[in-house]
Amino acid sequence: MSNVAVIGSQWGDEGKGKIVDVLSSQAEVVVRFQGGHNAGHTLVVDGVTYKLHLLPSGVVRQGKLSIIGNGVVVDPKALLTEIENIRSQGIDINPDNLMLAENATLIMPVHPALDIAMEEARGAKKIGTTGRGIGLAYEDKVARRGIRVCDLAHPEYLKERIENMLSYHNALLKGMGADEMKADDVYDYMMGMGDEILKYSGVAWKAIDDASKAGKKILFEGAQGHFLDVDHGTYPFVTSSNTVAAQAAAGAGVGAKKIGYVLGITKAYTTRVGSGPFPTELEDETGETLGRNGHEFGTSTGRKRRCGWFDAVLVRQAIKTGGIDGIALTKIDVLDGFDEIKVCVAYDLNGERIDYLPASTIDQANIKPIYETIKGWSGKTLGARSWADIPADAVKYVRYIEELIEAPVALLSTSPDRDDTILMQDPFNS
Ligand code: IMP
Repeated sequence: MSNVAVIGSQWGDEGKGKIVDVLSSQAEVVVRFQGGHNAGHTLVVDGVTYKLHLLPSGVVRQGKLSIIGNGVVVDPKALLTEIENIRSQGIDINPDNLMLAENATLIMPVHPALDIAMEEARGAKKIGTTGRGIGLAYEDKVARRGIRVCDLAHPEYLKERIENMLSYHNALLKGMGADEMKADDVYDYMMGMGDEILKYSGVAWKAIDDASKAGKKILFEGAQGHFLDVDHGTYPFVTSSNTVAAQAAAGAGVGAKKIGYVLGITKAYTTRVGSGPFPTELEDETGETLGRNGHEFGTSTGRKRRCGWFDAVLVRQAIKTGGIDGIALTKIDVLDGFDEIKVCVAYDLNGERIDYLPASTIDQANIKPIYETIKGWSGKTLGARSWADIPADAVKYVRYIEELIEAPVALLSTSPDRDDTILMQDPFNS
């Protein structure tokens, strides 16, 4: 038996929410370890859709402990609003089943304000952030200007920290022609939520250690995807955290050996939201069809996702650099009905064939995908619940992908419904 980390192996939106939900039936503890409410995880349980951003996917199941780890950046207002929204759908959320790491960094009001102002200033070169202040909060954390959950319990210290933070950021706001913020207003705003937030605050690393000692299974729930990782992604068009499974150790407070099986959630084609290189992007009718069939609109921002063919070079790189043991292949049903399917097997960089994504932004923009074309399948994978229900040519596609990415398909997802999942390898018992 091992713990499991679930991470995205492309640019996010691979369908992690559903897979985490499927696996959380086995896990007793579900932990978020990076990112913030830029994430959007959609779960469909008994026909009811839940849209989660900051809350770990374990919250929709009874009897699980959900933990927001220290590696997450937390917007207190967004957290309280999300708790209320999910509660209004009949889910019980209380300090017994939700814990917020006392050392998690808070997203302060100045962070989204600056995120939006900076994106505007970048003009055509914008990153396409979610505008939630994620990057700015991480910047402050690393710059040692950050304000943490535990600081809410110490009003005088909180005030001092806010003044310190604003002395830096107000100069930036002023320079950008935006309104400066008053420390007293920010202090009142934060104190207005302080008690409610502190109800959930706890020593998360200890709760995880206790669960571990009791032999409980822990699921580490990643957000975004491998190529949005600040080190391994398409920098600078990335998010501001490490999205790889290794981050679960630092962002939750556990030893690296505790992470266990790493499951890479992988869409049967590729999508991306926001700007940045995307070698297999299809700006044609085929791309439109993928987007339409796959309902490719962001859960967090509603933005239309860019769509393209499966890129085996990218996913193989995520597997190697992220330590992925096996993948969950999602949304294969979106490829139902295609006569031909293309798969990117290498890139052409200035006439040279390469089998990896180069680091340079310029090279990433210049590479051309080298495709192999395979036959589509007749019949449907949609809603299949056993391997026997999958058309033979779709099985071939899955086997072909396994060969190219050098990792097994542990799970196959054939619709958004929790039950439309075929388990080939149980990550908790591998
Ligand atoms: P930020 O995380 O808001 O700073 O945005 C940085 C980049 O990451 C942008 O391209 C966003 O579109 C992308 N991004 C952030 N969160 C997600 C996500 O959950 N899914 C997909 N893309 C995301």
